[in-house]
Amino acid sequence: MPVVAIIGAQWGDEGKGKVVDLYTEFAQVVVRFGGGSNAGHTLVVDGEKLTLRVIPSGILRRGTLCVLGQGMVIDPEVLLGEMDTLAGKGHLEGRSLAVSRHAHVVLPYHQLVDELRESGPGAIGTTKKGIGPAYEDKAARRGIRFVDLADRPLLRAKLERATAAWKPTIESLGGEPPEPAAIFETLAAQAEKIVPLLADTAALLHDELARGRSLLLEGAQGTLLDLDHGTYPFVTSSSCTVGGAITGSGLSPRRIDRVIGITKAYATRVGAGPFPTELGDEAGNHLRRVGGEYGSVTGRPRRCGWLDLPALRRAVLLNGFDGLALTKLDVLTGMPEVKACVAYEIDGRRHELCPTDAIDRAVPIYETFPGWTEPTDGARTLADLPAPARRYVESVESLAGCPVVLVGVGPAREQTIVLSNPFRRQ
Ligand code: IMP
Repeated sequence: MPVVAIIGAQWGDEGKGKVVDLYTEFAQVVVRFGGGSNAGHTLVVDGEKLTLRVIPSGILRRGTLCVLGQGMVIDPEVLLGEMDTLAGKGHLEGRSLAVSRHAHVVLPYHQLVDELRESGPGAIGTTKKGIGPAYEDKAARRGIRFVDLADRPLLRAKLERATAAWKPTIESLGGEPPEPAAIFETLAAQAEKIVPLLADTAALLHDELARGRSLLLEGAQGTLLDLDHGTYPFVTSSSCTVGGAITGSGLSPRRIDRVIGITKAYATRVGAGPFPTELGDEAGNHLRRVGGEYGSVTGRPRRCGWLDLPALRRAVLLNGFDGLALTKLDVLTGMPEVKACVAYEIDGRRHELCPTDAIDRAVPIYETFPGWTEPTDGARTLADLPAPARRYVESVESLAGCPVVLVGVGPAREQTIVLSNPFRRQ
């Protein structure tokens, strides 16, 4: 049965939650493989809005096994809070949840360091959820993993070591160093509910595949925020590309059958960093207002701009996308004209492919498309779209060099044009 990876093709917030939610009809197992509560996947089900930060969006389908893979860094308080919310709405019954024993724990001192750094001159506009410092601990080989919650003496010793290591940094940033005993008490209480969920998730996924189950790998953030491939240093601290799906889940690359990239019909970014197609005019305001472009985790207004094809081509190349899901096409309705950046000019040279280390000098070269005023949110086939909207979709497909497999025309599950299904043999 197929394994499909869903990967953000831009700077995150591409509408992955909705696409994952749609595809979970065909997958029995949904896996988050990287990041943590910096993500926020907003879903609208039966008219109700729900934002999930660590639990995979697949949890809303009965019978699904949701896995939090070892590439993640997870704040136990967020995990337990989401479990409570979901249980309260009846969304945990009949589903299973497994947390990798090797996922890392985000602790209060990670968040404190993130906040202190963000209030200083080196701020890059993180989500302040402690993600970067948690991955720093992981790379420094002093991180606390979920498996450690089951061994209290070891947990206590590791907490003492990690808090001692952070003390000078926290003091130099003007903060109050954390008290390991208090953190231990909280963690020990949280462990009661979390330890029963722990599993060797890599082995579990292989077992599920052997049983013929279909798997969906649910990406977080986006290709241009990837630690290796993004617009460094304005990136997150994990691998958001398909490479991260492999290391973060424990699956072999040979097991992934299809990779689908998610891109909005325009572009957004939160936090600092280069964004060549950013708009500071009425068109940008339209995208923010109509698209509801405010961070689902932080509430920050998102920076908005036209679709950036050189950046999208890099995402296609890095991830080997089999198809693109083009989301939020309806947001462009009512704009007098629609533009897309087809190439950059950098130091007098034309670039079709975004060079991420020179993107800050890129001058976008635009192609202009006619706008449309007829609503698109009722469209269920390409033929239902107004002709200029259809032409825009076709142009994105040919300019990105990747087929469009799905078009989003509204926030609800059914407001979708499905062109082909990656879970079915084409
Ligand atoms: P961090 O992941 O909180 O360390 O933030 C690093 C950068 O990634 C900042 O620019 C954030 O705004 C951005 N970022 C992190 N997670 C997301 C996301 O889920 N959507 C959009 N941007 C994100």
